[in-house]
Amino acid sequence: MTVNYNMKSFICLFVFIVLPAVLTKEMNNRPVIGVLAQELYKPLPLGSSYIAASYVKYLESAGARVVPVKINQTYNEYERLFNAINGVLFPGGGVSIVASGYATAASIFYELAIKAKYKGDYFPIWGTCLGFEELTYLTSGKVLLTATNTSGVALPLIFTNDSAESRLFSGFPADVISALASEPITENSHQWSLTTESYNKSKELRDFYSVLTTNNDGNVEFVSTMEAYDFPFYGTQWHPEKNAFEWTRSYIPHSPSAVKSMFYMADFFVNEARKSSHQFPSEEEERDALIYNYSPIYTGSKRCQKLVSLTPDPAVALLLSALTGGPPAGHVTQCHFPC
Ligand SMILES: *[C@@H]1O[C@H](CO)[C@@H](O)[C@H](O)[C@H]1NC(C)=O
Ligand SMILES: *[C@@H]1O[C@H](CO)[C@@H](O)[C@H](O)[C@H]1NC(C)=O
Ligand SMILES: *[C@@H]1O[C@H](CO)[C@@H](O)[C@H](O)[C@H]1NC(C)=O
Ligand SMILES: *[C@@H]1O[C@H](CO)[C@@H](O)[C@H](O)[C@H]1NC(C)=O
Repeated sequence: MTVNYNMKSFICLFVFIVLPAVLTKEMNNRPVIGVLAQELYKPLPLGSSYIAASYVKYLESAGARVVPVKINQTYNEYERLFNAINGVLFPGGGVSIVASGYATAASIFYELAIKAKYKGDYFPIWGTCLGFEELTYLTSGKVLLTATNTSGVALPLIFTNDSAESRLFSGFPADVISALASEPITENSHQWSLTTESYNKSKELRDFYSVLTTNNDGNVEFVSTMEAYDFPFYGTQWHPEKNAFEWTRSYIPHSPSAVKSMFYMADFFVNEARKSSHQFPSEEEERDALIYNYSPIYTGSKRCQKLVSLTPDPAVALLLSALTGGPPAGHVTQCHFPC
């Protein structure tokens, strides 16, 4: 009896002392987000993988720091990194969503984030374009994509009724939603899409994701923005990060509303990462992991889009298709490779 009584007071103490502490848990205002690297189509002397700089600048613009998530690492290395960072972004690109270094790393982070959620540990994942497609594969276990005519076109979003209550869009100012819905400011560069029909037919996807926006290529309707119901996972088939940071294609929108809406997307995801309390074991390890250790390379002309850099680590090249400034002096590697 006494034991029970004591137990009860313990539970009460737990509820009154621990619960408020959890509820008022402080935001992590030093979020670090992983951005996944991917294989270059053709390895070059300078390296065989890259991260496009726009994703890095996109996250930095909203107050995050970035670490590269290299391909071809061991499970243990990925797990260690998972426990150190506050979210991960799967960028767009052109590798297999089933069999590539990118796909392998993505699947490990996805599984770890699912497991973490069941332990009350919040770990957000964002997929853009290829990353969106990767999420549909990881969730359904199937490639459910259909060819669409969407290679290089900016579109206004068609919001679903569910979008109004979504975590992603519900905090956006009305003028930003209105611009997204009426102006062609979301850039699509994909040959494959998840059609609304395929989504409707997939129980795995229907149960997991809410469709927030759709688009169509004139013939086929496809899902363009989604968020998971029970996990902090988000996907856009379009490219929010390009609007302020990529200048090589005429169809990339740069209007004030295009850039402003990009910022709200970045702000949302970085705020999700601020809810994660993962930390590097030491400040030194954090410093050594940050992307600041890698020199960006300005790829400039279209001929040299696909390649570049690697100081100090040849496993990660930063593709700066849009760096307006140019690489830091002393680390400049000229791009001489026809791509
Ligand atoms: C693809 O879409 C573009 C507009 O974005 C259009 O000009 C072109 O005719 C379309 N091609 C096909 C094959 O439908
Ligand atoms: C969305 O909401 C509008 C206005 O409330 C309603 O007319 C429409 O039927 C709804 N659409 C769906 C698919 O639920
Ligand atoms: C998918 O399902 C929604 C909701 O049931 C429906 O409104 C829509 O027409 C369907 N779309 C297609 C292409 O099947
Ligand atoms: C990753 O591993 C594959 C297969 O072993 C190899 O071909 C590729 O060069 C590696 N890439 C990097 C960047 O380590």
